[in-house]
Amino acid sequence: MPPKQLNPQSKCVNAGIGQDQAYGAVTPPLYLSSTYKFPAYGEMGKYDYGRGGNPNRDALADALARLEGGAGGVITSSGMAAIDLVLNLVPSGGLVLAPHDCYGGTFRLLLSRAEQGRFKVEFINQTTKDAPENIRAKNPDLVFIETPSNPLMRLSDIAVLSAAAHDANALAVCDNTFLSPVRQTPLALGADIVVHSTTKFINGHSDVVGGAVIAASEEHAEKLAWWANCTGVTGAPFDSFLTLRGLRTLHARMDVQEKNAQEIVQYLRGNSSVKCVHYPDGASGNKLAQRQQSGPGAMLSFELNVEPESLKGFFADTGIIQFAESLGGTESLICHPATMTHRAMSQEDRDGAGIGNTLIRMSAGMEHKDDLCRALDTMFSNLQTAE
Ligand SMILES: Cc1ncc(COP(=O)(O)O)c(C=O)c1O
Repeated sequence: MPPKQLNPQSKCVNAGIGQDQAYGAVTPPLYLSSTYKFPAYGEMGKYDYGRGGNPNRDALADALARLEGGAGGVITSSGMAAIDLVLNLVPSGGLVLAPHDCYGGTFRLLLSRAEQGRFKVEFINQTTKDAPENIRAKNPDLVFIETPSNPLMRLSDIAVLSAAAHDANALAVCDNTFLSPVRQTPLALGADIVVHSTTKFINGHSDVVGGAVIAASEEHAEKLAWWANCTGVTGAPFDSFLTLRGLRTLHARMDVQEKNAQEIVQYLRGNSSVKCVHYPDGASGNKLAQRQQSGPGAMLSFELNVEPESLKGFFADTGIIQFAESLGGTESLICHPATMTHRAMSQEDRDGAGIGNTLIRMSAGMEHKDDLCRALDTMFSNLQTAE
């Protein structure tokens, strides 16, 4: 077993390493078997059937639980499956409070479950001063937090919102996809459960769709594992194997991608076609970022001073910055939330959240900063500015 006291960097590199009992393989073997032999009549081994348990999934869940500081975790087939799994903890007819500007898929899931009659949902602004009071007054069963928010990079105070949720006897659940555990650990700030789209920074190579739920308490971890087996949302062994491989370089990737994001933010702040840049760094004077994050991360968004019609040229292929959904891969990605990641929201809901038609989201990759800035030069030169 790895030592208990390790820095996050070592926890990433050490994920699943040197634990093979059969042959002493340094990197973990891949177990694809869907079924496992019972030792004898009336006896059970550690694993019986792949939906309920698998060594590759367990290795990834353990590594993520160690990084997030949780008691245990469940690996799911996608980030949405992770969020839906947690919703099993909401009693029938209960109330879920979620941010009005969360990821479009989360918004759609919560709204659709509420429309089915499974529970009630209210989308609120969690960044205002009165948000904690609002939470206490509404008496919810679950408070869903997403910080930084997708795509506006708004921050909400995990400690304050979790405390308000607990005052109402509600669960505090935080989506930590944008920063990953190497930049933010919500359980240490009071959240009960963390969810991830491991599709993003944790896997980091845009070749797996997956998710994870990490619980602070064993009781929640066990309940979630029970529901995951019951509903069959667990992730595939090969996906877990790849994601664990990706996790080993998370720390190094985040360092490089965050540096590139800072370069890009500087570039954008000096560009007259850019109305504003959303990035939780010191330049925007964000005290909360300094308190709850160990860095600003590699995601950013910005708004342009142009009519939406002139965006076509902007998104023409540069060969360096890919015009695509998703985020957190080694390659830089750029997208238009209103027509891509957040198109599941109505125009009215997007307007309410502040997701405008000239808002652009970018996930900084690991390319050389000069190549990224040159690609942005090309994109801006293709843009017909309103001036
Ligand atoms: C913040 C956030 N949470 C959850 C998800 C859903 O993850 P997945 O696409 O792996 O289902 C996404 C996807 O973009 C996301 O950005």
